[in-house]
Amino acid sequence: MESGSRQVASKWLKQAVISRNSMVAGHIPATVRYSPAALGRMLRSYGSVVAKPIVGTGGAGVIFIGYSGGSYVCRRGTVTTHYASLPPLVRRIDAIRRGRGYMLQRRIQLAQIGGRPIDYRIKTVRRGNGWAVTAMVGRLARPGLMVTNLCQGGTQLSFAQGVRRSLPGQAVRIKRRQCLDLTGASRHQLELAFPGIDQLGFDIGLDRSGRPWILEVNTKPK
Ligand SMILES: Nc1ncnc2c1ncn2[C@@H]1O[C@H](COP(=O)(O)OP(=O)(O)OP(=O)(O)O)[C@@H](O)[C@H]1O
Ligand SMILES: [Mg+2]
Repeated sequence: MESGSRQVASKWLKQAVISRNSMVAGHIPATVRYSPAALGRMLRSYGSVVAKPIVGTGGAGVIFIGYSGGSYVCRRGTVTTHYASLPPLVRRIDAIRRGRGYMLQRRIQLAQIGGRPIDYRIKTVRRGNGWAVTAMVGRLARPGLMVTNLCQGGTQLSFAQGVRRSLPGQAVRIKRRQCLDLTGASRHQLELAFPGIDQLGFDIGLDRSGRPWILEVNTKPK
């Protein structure tokens, strides 16, 4: 990490700051702090949610939870477990959390290639008085995984390839513009709240209709 580069670890705090922009707020999945009661509510509202540590872990601690047909499904990595009721599911999540602060996010049905979800990492760095986008890449989840992190075996694609192969018929130019408008407006809010930040890595997912969603922002992107 460059000296003087400010880091903000909390996903919760960063998300609260970028949602101060109403345009951006419309592209952030519904998110609450984790509790067993909140889990029940979010599952009733959305059917499937993602539980993740408030401080990032490279996709490791991310849990996908669904409720359908009266039973609960919990997926972490390649391990899927089923529960007939909420209490054993909560025990499983607590075993994974080990006391860490978690948040629950509505699960976005990400566009896919060959059944594998894809999302995008957009990296922007401060250059003098301005900012420059230095990377805009697709990350295709390793077969069998739901997380796209490269450190979890995800495959890197170009932005254009990712959009063309997962959303045929959608214009790459328009998707690129939409994503950059979102990262630009978010960056502005983050700069106001956290003076001194000089690099950002946005994780953006395009759902199956092509709508962009900000999944999280890293202040120490790899
Ligand atoms: N709301 C969501 N809907 C669908 N998939 C999601 C959602 N949130 C996260 N994911 C998937 O899980 C992956 C990891 O989640 P996220 O980026 O929030 O945390 P992280 O990568 O563990 O944190 P960090 O990047 O700080 O290390 C995402 O790249 C994406 O593939
Ligand atoms: Mg991430």
